Amino acid sequence: RAVLVLNGPNLGRLGSREPDVYGAHSFEDLVVLCEEAGRGLGLAVEVRQTDDEAEMVKWIHEAADRRTPVVLNPAAFTHYSYALRDAIAQRTAPLVEVHISNPNAREEFRHTSVVAAVATGTIAGFGFQSYVLALRAIAEGES
Ligand code: DQA
Repeated sequence: RAVLVLNGPNLGRLGSREPDVYGAHSFEDLVVLCEEAGRGLGLAVEVRQTDDEAEMVKWIHEAADRRTPVVLNPAAFTHYSYALRDAIAQRTAPLVEVHISNPNAREEFRHTSVVAAVATGTIAGFGFQSYVLALRAIAEGES
């Protein structure tokens, strides 16, 4: 079963980006972790990252058309992208919103997620492990 793991702006800079918040591991490390977790769960995981809202919306359309489950870290899009929210609302397969940090424990503007209400569920605050938990949720939902 194919699963897309989609990452929004600035997540390609993991490792050098605010390591006190996001940890010292790189985006490449995250890719490897997700692929390995997927293998263990019987999921064919494809990990992508973009800084471009239009590209992210296109990927969500692709997932909607193929009914592919999605693990999505919308990054800063979380807090303001109604375009992303409207794209997510079109799909029927599970979509798990994930965050590395716990946005609710941070600045006020991070307390609002405009996508949470159209996601299947949200996992936040567990570092890279948030992605593994989300993949487990998808794998167990299938069985
Ligand atoms: C984030 C949290 C967002 O507030 C922030 O804009 C990000 C990363 C996280 O994974 O903790 O870029 O989504």
